[in-house]
Amino acid sequence: MTSENTTMPQVQLGRDGPMIGAQGLGCMGMSEFYGETDTAESLLTLDRAIDLGINMFDTADMYGVGANEAFLAPFVAANRERVTIATKFGYSRTPDSPDDWNIDNRPDFIRAAVDRSLQRLGVDAIDLYYMHRRTDSVALEDSIGAMAELVAAGKVKWLGLSAVGAAELRAAHAVHPIAALQSEWSIFTRDIEQDVVPAAAELGVTVLPYSPLGRGMLTGRAFATSLGDTDARQHFPRFSAENRAANMLLVAKIEDIAEARGVSVAQIALAWLYAQSRKLKVKTVPIPGTRKRSRLLENVAAASITLTVPEMEALAPLASAVQGIAV
Ligand SMILES: NC(=O)c1ccc[n+]([C@@H]2O[C@H](COP(=O)([O-])OP(=O)(O)OC[C@H]3O[C@@H](n4cnc5c(N)ncnc54)[C@H](OP(=O)(O)O)[C@@H]3O)[C@@H](O)[C@H]2O)c1
Repeated sequence: MTSENTTMPQVQLGRDGPMIGAQGLGCMGMSEFYGETDTAESLLTLDRAIDLGINMFDTADMYGVGANEAFLAPFVAANRERVTIATKFGYSRTPDSPDDWNIDNRPDFIRAAVDRSLQRLGVDAIDLYYMHRRTDSVALEDSIGAMAELVAAGKVKWLGLSAVGAAELRAAHAVHPIAALQSEWSIFTRDIEQDVVPAAAELGVTVLPYSPLGRGMLTGRAFATSLGDTDARQHFPRFSAENRAANMLLVAKIEDIAEARGVSVAQIALAWLYAQSRKLKVKTVPIPGTRKRSRLLENVAAASITLTVPEMEALAPLASAVQGIAV
């Protein structure tokens, strides 16, 4: 299912944010982590995404240690009115300390990080600014307070959190409205359905599932038979040789459903997220990552695929059978 006549449904970001397309684009792999990058094709992918109605573009200050933000800057400048740019702070991994994977939520760090991101992105204000990871070493209220000051100063428009629990989401929301929550959510990774998604639904927070395609695993058996040396996934537990073999047996079950429907495995994975978010009554904007124009229409078209009850029932038990933790 890849018709060009795709009309992107719209979803509100938080309770008072803008309407955004129901699918965003993850830009991380354009600079780092998933093997070879291709600048020219990635730039064409960004333009194609805009043409297809995608307007949420996801980056972080640590992707490529700033390189991903800088890479996106010309695209954002050329399309400023149509782009909602989301970036994140929280890792100490800055150009001065590229190998420092500690987490830093101190207000002073946040104030410095936002200025670095504004400069690299070449914007006056970041549309959505996430805390990438949380550390208990700083009081949540202090970090959110610093983020709220950025909103008051006009440096940031809306606030988001990534990979936090329900209690943290509620506590943060009490300090300043949180528009977005970004966490891993897919057919294979469903932990947030327990507490976090219900909290987000109650608070009007929009959920932006990251790695909705299981970092590529949920795209079919042809995926990643050999991951290159520069591909970080080779170090992830789900991708170890042993676990990958077991997990690909689960992917084969999704492939059966996809083949019977005449759609791709990636489309089933995304359609499942849309179905699950309707069931759980939460606003959801998956942000699949791709560096290739050829994937975009396929992924966007998944928003129009409605899975049947038997299909959802067949997919439901897979998460608990996955081998290897999500990272
Ligand atoms: N907040 C966080 O901690 C966090 C963590 C991870 C990721 N993220 C964000 O979430 C975004 C998406 O997550 P992700 O990139 O980790 O994983 P993902 O979206 O689950 O999967 C990306 C992988 O799937 C491939 N792919 C995409 N569409 C495809 C299709 N239709 N058919 C076949 N393969 C396809 C991509 O390859 P090609 O590029 O070759 O198409 C890439 O290898 C990231 O870009 C990043 O912005 C956030």
